[in-house]
Amino acid sequence: MSDKQNPADQANTTDSFTLTDNSTGESWRLPSRVGAMGNRLIDIKALYGETGVLTYDPGFTSTASCKSSITFINGVEGVLLHRGYSIDELAAKSDFMETCYLLLYGELPTPEQKASFDADIRNHTLIHEQLARFYSGFMRSAHPMAIMVGVVGALSAFYHDSIDITDIEQRRLAAHRLIAKMPTIGACAFKYSLGLPFPTPRNELSYSENVLQMMFSNPAEDYKLNPVLVKAIDKILILHADHEQNASTSTVRLAGSSGANPYACIASGIASLWGPAHGGANEAVLKMLDEIGSADQIDKYVKKAQDKNDKFRLMGFGHRVYKNYDPRATVMRNTCHEVLKVLGINNPQLELAMKLEEMALKDAYFIDKKLYPNVDFYSGIILKAMGFPTSMFTVMFAIGRTVGWISHWKEMLVDDEQKIGRPRQLYMGETKRRYVPIDKRGHTEKKTSWSWLWKGK
Ligand code: CMC
Repeated sequence: MSDKQNPADQANTTDSFTLTDNSTGESWRLPSRVGAMGNRLIDIKALYGETGVLTYDPGFTSTASCKSSITFINGVEGVLLHRGYSIDELAAKSDFMETCYLLLYGELPTPEQKASFDADIRNHTLIHEQLARFYSGFMRSAHPMAIMVGVVGALSAFYHDSIDITDIEQRRLAAHRLIAKMPTIGACAFKYSLGLPFPTPRNELSYSENVLQMMFSNPAEDYKLNPVLVKAIDKILILHADHEQNASTSTVRLAGSSGANPYACIASGIASLWGPAHGGANEAVLKMLDEIGSADQIDKYVKKAQDKNDKFRLMGFGHRVYKNYDPRATVMRNTCHEVLKVLGINNPQLELAMKLEEMALKDAYFIDKKLYPNVDFYSGIILKAMGFPTSMFTVMFAIGRTVGWISHWKEMLVDDEQKIGRPRQLYMGETKRRYVPIDKRGHTEKKTSWSWLWKGK
């Protein structure tokens, strides 16, 4: 396994753009950059130093924050490639362990490399007995994602042998440990909420078999693995494995850019993933389908999602990058049908979801804004059919995404152009003013109310 320098440096400087200050007529040449594929970029690294001018781009809608060679998305055409391989092909022909290797090390493994990687991951599946005690500090009713943030962050207090980020071997050890332990940590969070004993990973089982075994077995009876469900879990993990510079991955990179240890960085990614606009959307989709209730209500909710005075959105629809069908959603939709067929479930929620999808895709608002179903639209239905409670959906996403986070963290650490992430701001506050003693301030009654103070001043 190599820990080679990232080849993203192929990105070369070609032609340029000119920026003109219309108030003075002064112009600057800004170099353009092109990667192996994708949009042209304006390289503004030197802009502030040369001009004293900053750029403004809240939410990074037009900003590339780094170079990367891991994942490529063409959102207009609905293309997703990992290290050059299409997600459809990986979901159909690969398995999660192989996809992990590909994301982390850049190439599909040879049989020997795969066997050695697989063995190393199996070797790290157990969690420290002391770490298991952390769970008892949480309420049984705690959201499992809250437990994940805490327990994964706590790993940095256990593995002092792998927090020196300047040491390649320690970085490798932390990466493999995190991938290996996430299913165990997630399954313990699930069992803790049920008041059941913590599961033990079985190292004769594959990664995805172990996920199912740890989540659903209990010491009182035998657990029989269903190969169709194992395959479905494996596909779900592949489909969630990476998605370039999304919010949680960017959070991991930002945390890591200060030199923070890998366990703390991955905990920050889990926290970011939890939000309903990101990985928490799979949970929100099921809540939304429950709220809609029946097909005759769909029209009302499709219209409600368009009302600017209503905060309701169609969860599982829309994406910052995809302006076409999310290719992961297509695979997820088919997997969903397979799983429900095997389980013999006639799921009214799936029927409702398909009807909702059909109606939204015909609606002028969704067509105009290019809002298509994303990966989260169908994943919750599959997971629910398998027996996962909604609160565990984002945990499953986090288990799959860990390899993506750690691959980006690894890539960032060897990129000579990467600096500590430190955005600037457009300051809108008061200009310099004099301090007024407390007895001379005389606030109005309105200004002392908490709701006024929290209005976002
Ligand atoms: N329902 C109704 N309207 C929507 C939706 C939606 N799901 N998504 C976007 N819009 C509208 C939005 O109101 C805005 O309209 P206008 O231009 O008139 O202001 C326009 O479409 C663009 O939306 P945006 O919020 O500016 O776009 P964004 O790129 O900042 O946000 C998003 C992307 C995924 C956060 C958003 O589409 C959304 O909130 N979707 C629902 C949550 C969801 O499914 N998230 C999972 C994302 S995929 C998996 C993952 O990354 O974790």
